[in-house]
Amino acid sequence: VNHLLGIKYLNEDDIQLIFETADHFKEVINRSIKKVPSLRDITIANVFFENSTRTKLSFELAEKRLSADVINFSASQSSVKKGETLIDTVNNILSMKVDMVVMRHPNPGAGIFLSKNVKASIINAGDGAHEHPTQALLDSFSIREKFGDVAGKNVVIVGDILHSRVALSNIFALRLQGANIKVCGPKTLLPKHIETLGVEVETDLRKALNWCDVANMLRIQNERLDISYFPTTREYTQQFGVNKMLLDSLDKEIVIMHPGPINRGVEITSDVADSKQSIILNQVENGVAIRMAVIYLLASKIK
Ligand code: CP
Repeated sequence: VNHLLGIKYLNEDDIQLIFETADHFKEVINRSIKKVPSLRDITIANVFFENSTRTKLSFELAEKRLSADVINFSASQSSVKKGETLIDTVNNILSMKVDMVVMRHPNPGAGIFLSKNVKASIINAGDGAHEHPTQALLDSFSIREKFGDVAGKNVVIVGDILHSRVALSNIFALRLQGANIKVCGPKTLLPKHIETLGVEVETDLRKALNWCDVANMLRIQNERLDISYFPTTREYTQQFGVNKMLLDSLDKEIVIMHPGPINRGVEITSDVADSKQSIILNQVENGVAIRMAVIYLLASKIK
């Protein structure tokens, strides 16, 4: 398959191959070799219909470090505003001899739809509340880097699970690798039947944190809330926010992750985000090597 549409479509061997390839690229970058000639004959379009800081810049940097040619498309400054469809937009881009499309879109399944309607390799950079596969890969890669292995680790995903593509992709990826997974958040922000995905629900944050090795703290996806959800932001922070006092009072030292962007003072306080237990910026650093690996492996199938 020439696409990365979701972790759902991968198996454990795929993930290990991506990690081993990312190990290689991370080592190359750490040797201050900032560019390899691997993809000199590949052109990639980054097509973003939704805002992004980390994912967009990380993909662009990964592509440039592989020596691919890169074009960037932002829907808000494009002819989408004049009524052009997704397929027309992408087919016009592809007619300029583009090989691969990295797409972020607010609609769940947009990447799958595109892969069935255009002739190019598609990488899903986040599709609504569905999947964010490269985020889950870089998250697991960061856990592996910290602990040596993901298998057997206790990971709690805290927050707005219902609207989070990061949560779903992480659940698929962590399960494939044999981690134990709990989700923790207000009942209104947990999907019904979440247990069918092989995770346990824990609504008591302290219990969840005392159980885990890693807490992945999610942002409330206000842009995807179409009704007024209980709790209010203040109530959410009181029940599900992590501050330094709570972190220091736990039975053991846990690792704090966050996919970004952080709403400081809501899901985590600054002294937690910036603490030595936080690997948030390591996640961002690892994102470049993971995206280099994903692009390199997909490009090897189209060359
Ligand atoms: N983690 C993540 O997807 O961040 P951006 O929305 O800034 O890309």
